[in-house]
Amino acid sequence: MTVWAARIGDPVEPLPQEAPFGRTEPARARSPPLSPSAASVPVSDGLHPAGERRSPSAVRRAYARRMSSETTHRPLVAILSGAGISTDSGIPDYRGPQGLWRRDPEAEKLVTYEYYMTDPEIRRRSWQMRRDSETLRARPNGAHEAVTRLERSGVPVRVITQNVDGLHQIAGMPTRKVLELHGTARAVLCTHCEARSGMEEALERVAAGDPDPACRECGGILKSATVMFGESLDPEVLTEAVAVAQACEIFIAVGTSLQVQPAASLAGLAAEHGARLIIVNAEPTPYDELADEVVREPISTALPAVLDRVAAGGGGGGG
Ligand SMILES: NC(=O)c1ccc[n+]([C@@H]2O[C@H](COP(=O)([O-])OP(=O)(O)OC[C@H]3O[C@@H](n4cnc5c(N)ncnc54)[C@H](O)[C@@H]3O)[C@@H](O)[C@H]2O)c1
Ligand SMILES: [Zn+2]
Repeated sequence: MTVWAARIGDPVEPLPQEAPFGRTEPARARSPPLSPSAASVPVSDGLHPAGERRSPSAVRRAYARRMSSETTHRPLVAILSGAGISTDSGIPDYRGPQGLWRRDPEAEKLVTYEYYMTDPEIRRRSWQMRRDSETLRARPNGAHEAVTRLERSGVPVRVITQNVDGLHQIAGMPTRKVLELHGTARAVLCTHCEARSGMEEALERVAAGDPDPACRECGGILKSATVMFGESLDPEVLTEAVAVAQACEIFIAVGTSLQVQPAASLAGLAAEHGARLIIVNAEPTPYDELADEVVREPISTALPAVLDRVAAGGGGGGG
């Protein structure tokens, strides 16, 4: 079983091309910095306004300072969440037994940048998918609420999420403590001028009969503010996620098949830095062998139990 921690590379360097949002393909030689489209995705990391750029090393230094004051008394807990934490809120995952891709393998194209940018039919289907999606209507479930409870109990918590549904924040997690690795489905971004607007407004235009609404500023192609396959992650958000994975004492991967890189490799990185690794997921993952504890039970009941033990200082318990 391969662990891809090395693919993240040194976070102070520009994010290499081999670390786009993609499946576990082998690392290639380093190539030029991020493409303009990928670099332009202003993921809200909650620390600084979208669009404001600081060097990765500055972000890391600032982060280390904040962490040292916050973690003086209690160990930092990192929670990497994936689509499985939100299935009980009615949002289907991609790769689970009821996952979108098992039902419709073509659906992967709808979230692949190259297809999206070159094929108007794919864009029309994407907008239909967004219109029909439960994502914007969904409410947090017991697992999201348990994460917020842990944070409110005084334990230093950072959520690194692959989800684009915003449910951690709706459940009350402070925005600055949620790192949205794959962006958000609640906003829309122009691929040409980078103008950002609300998803609701774009969906109203689709409902009113425009199957592929264009940017109101420049006429450019609009997409959701999510990171599609073929795009790179926001380097600042990834840098901070790496810092969290390296600094935490407990790393809980929940509801993720741990197949999407580079997010999945954060689990390996945390274990390498001595964190206790707990995996809560119904199906096996490539990182189970590395884990100190694997819980293969329904998340909305299993995660609260795990987090109660963490809050009680049990470090997650188990073997
Ligand atoms: N809610 C969302 O925002 C959402 C939904 C679908 C996909 N996505 C995007 O697609 C990517 C998919 O990757 P992923 O690794 O997050 O998800 P995934 O679909 O690859 O894996 C989800 C995993 O969760 C498990 N699971 C699902 N429901 C569960 C439950 N109730 N209890 C226990 N286990 C359960 C499944 O067995 C599966 O292994 C994400 O990175 C994300 O960007 C997001
Ligand atoms: Zn535009």
